[in-house]
Amino acid sequence: MGFIVYSQKAHHYFCIMQQQGPIGVFDSGYGGLTVLKEIVSRLPEYDYLYLGDNARSPYGTRSYETVYQYTLQCVNWFFDQGCSLVILACNTASAKALRTIQQNDLPKIAPGKRVLGVIRPTAEVIGSYSETKEVGVLATNGTVLSESYPMEIGKFFPDVKVHQEACPMWVPLVENNEHLGHGADYFVKENLEELFEKGENIDVVLLGCTHYPLLKDKIEEYLPVGVKLISQGEIVANSLANYLVRHPEIETRCARNGKRLFYTTDSTGDFDSHGFLFYGAPVHSTHVDLGKI
Ligand code: DGL
Repeated sequence: MGFIVYSQKAHHYFCIMQQQGPIGVFDSGYGGLTVLKEIVSRLPEYDYLYLGDNARSPYGTRSYETVYQYTLQCVNWFFDQGCSLVILACNTASAKALRTIQQNDLPKIAPGKRVLGVIRPTAEVIGSYSETKEVGVLATNGTVLSESYPMEIGKFFPDVKVHQEACPMWVPLVENNEHLGHGADYFVKENLEELFEKGENIDVVLLGCTHYPLLKDKIEEYLPVGVKLISQGEIVANSLANYLVRHPEIETRCARNGKRLFYTTDSTGDFDSHGFLFYGAPVHSTHVDLGKI
């Protein structure tokens, strides 16, 4: 009897071990590394698998259908690598693809797996930083046009007014390592002026794109005195920590060997040299060819 109980337990343990895999972290390119950096510092014990779809970035100016197809293909790739939990560390993918994947695709392709985004955890807290109840959101065209931030922030802070400004040049500046140059000054100044024309009482500005933390110093130069600048990395990391506590059925399927693996759909040389700027530590990537859609 004792043996049967033991072997049932062992079998259960074995099944859990079998299903364990890394936590997937996805972005169209390098930006998600700014989020991964904070997640790793908050939850170092887990294994992480990062994928940057650099060959097809930027996503910010692409249609809903394209962002959805690319993101779904990447999510399926993460599932094939054994991930039970995937974080879309990309606002554009979170805004344009997450809901459809969660509601339509997951129940069919992987009912026990989870895909989370970065917009909701940010929306849950951002209003609490503001005293004037006016928040500015800087993001890609795609994220701004989706209206995801005003809608999500409205659910948690109905009295907060959200002003958005699309900054279509910022991702190309960052991806091309031009974020410290004079071109960056021009566009940062212009977009901030536009934002504050929409809402002069804004006292909190959210970097609603995971690439933008690299422009933080430059943005701060042009930000009115007293305005708080918020990046998402730490917010997402805290939210993930909380999620794992609330969802033991997912947490037990996340491997805990402290491993980090990096994949890119484009050149590994570029990814490794550029990735360091975002991740703040050496990155050694592997190329993956996802094929054509
Ligand atoms: N880093 C992505 C985001 O947070 C967007 C970059 C892109 O346009 O591909 O929105």
